[in-house]
Amino acid sequence: MLEVIILAAGEGRRMNSDRPKVLQHVGGRPMLSHLVDTAEALEPRAIHVVVGAGADQVRQALANRPIRWSVQAQRLGTGHAAMQALPAVDPGSRVLVLPGDMPLVRPATLAGLLQNDADVAVLSFMADNPTGYGRILRDGDAVWGIREEKDASDEERTIREVNSAVLVAGAGDLAGWLDRVGADNAQGEYYLTDCVGLAAADGRRVEAVVAGDASELMGANDRLQMAALEAVFQRRARRALLEQGAALADPDTVQVRGDVEVGRDVFIDVNVVLQGRVRLGDGVSVGPGSVLSDCELAAGTEVQPYCVIEGAKTSGACSVGPFARLRAGTELAEGVKIGNFVETKNARLEAGAKASHLSYVGDAAVGAAVNLGAGTITCNYDGVNKHQTIIGERAFVGSNTSLVAPVEIGAGATIGAGSVISSDAPAGQLTLSRARQRSISGWKRPEKKP
Ligand code: UD1
Ligand code: CA
Repeated sequence: MLEVIILAAGEGRRMNSDRPKVLQHVGGRPMLSHLVDTAEALEPRAIHVVVGAGADQVRQALANRPIRWSVQAQRLGTGHAAMQALPAVDPGSRVLVLPGDMPLVRPATLAGLLQNDADVAVLSFMADNPTGYGRILRDGDAVWGIREEKDASDEERTIREVNSAVLVAGAGDLAGWLDRVGADNAQGEYYLTDCVGLAAADGRRVEAVVAGDASELMGANDRLQMAALEAVFQRRARRALLEQGAALADPDTVQVRGDVEVGRDVFIDVNVVLQGRVRLGDGVSVGPGSVLSDCELAAGTEVQPYCVIEGAKTSGACSVGPFARLRAGTELAEGVKIGNFVETKNARLEAGAKASHLSYVGDAAVGAAVNLGAGTITCNYDGVNKHQTIIGERAFVGSNTSLVAPVEIGAGATIGAGSVISSDAPAGQLTLSRARQRSISGWKRPEKKP
């Protein structure tokens, strides 16, 4: 049986942040949540997470995940951290230890390491710049130790094969070695990596498996390294979009911060941000500068430049923007047109309805083929409560009209421009509320006194 221990008690002092290191975001969510997903994919008996710095924040951020929490009260090193979880681990289990700051490792890479049947197996990689990493010490195939950067001699520092901090061993063995690890080193810490030297000295079989793709195993101790991780994440995410059938005008400028699925022949223009859960149907196009969060756009929907869409859904091909803002609870049926400087919230527009210019449509049910003229505003808020506006199909609302909710406009009604509508307007009739226009003959403009 396999159990996973994720070490997440470090403060990440080098981040200069109020947030614990493992909650720093990559691809729009905490590093630790990526690792928990990866661990879950291996179907272990349990996932243990060791927390310390900002423990409550970490627990809160990952509530509802299948995690057994352990606490490391003092940060005495990675070996000491792993020890805190071991009492909760079945002594007969195999243990996979993962550092909490290595979010990009793939399940398949870890599964490959788990194939290795050595007494201790570690995942290593060839670093272009090994500075800061533990170096793998070997005689040919036999690994006899790992030397931390701060303890390494000048000669050892030239070694490019470095420790990823991923390690597999039997739980009972690991507990035994960790009991013997001391803190007599440059950092005065109990290093998990010292288990490797102890195992080798005991004559046990130790192997370092060199990973093919070093970019998966990068750790992040500071913001510079976070930026490097983010770049790798983005490259992967863009590639996934391209593979699913999206064309990206300039892949380097698209940012993916969540879980995005796209259909065939989707087009995404430059400087687009996709966050949360985004689903784009076949043939959807997204104009430059748009931000799409938690939304589902049906096949053929066209998002013009510079739109902000959040928590909205289209159920047919619609046209949105440019410069439109669709907020939570917006639902657009087939053929709806939302034009420039239109904001919608908690509103359903039926097939073919249009709000082409400068409108606010909130808490509203808008029937099929309704035309909302420029500057139509649903006055949904009386300062205390929100109220509904209901507009029947084929109604025509003249420009610059305020619909004071709760109010209902009947099907096929016409509302004269500039009206303030505060009671229901009957179906099929013209309703208007505005002062009658008059002209005063012989009126003269005032003149400046001499
Ligand atoms: C560690 C490894 C190093 C490896 C590198 C890979 C050790 C001693 N060194 O170094 O060989 O090359 O990762 O990125 O293991 N943590 C705790 N409690 C502690 C200390 C750390 O939970 O007392 C956690 C941290 O939150 C972090 C992980 O362990 O998630 C690794 O700690 P970190 O300080 O980042 O280790 P490195 O110096 O990067
Ligand atoms: Ca690290």
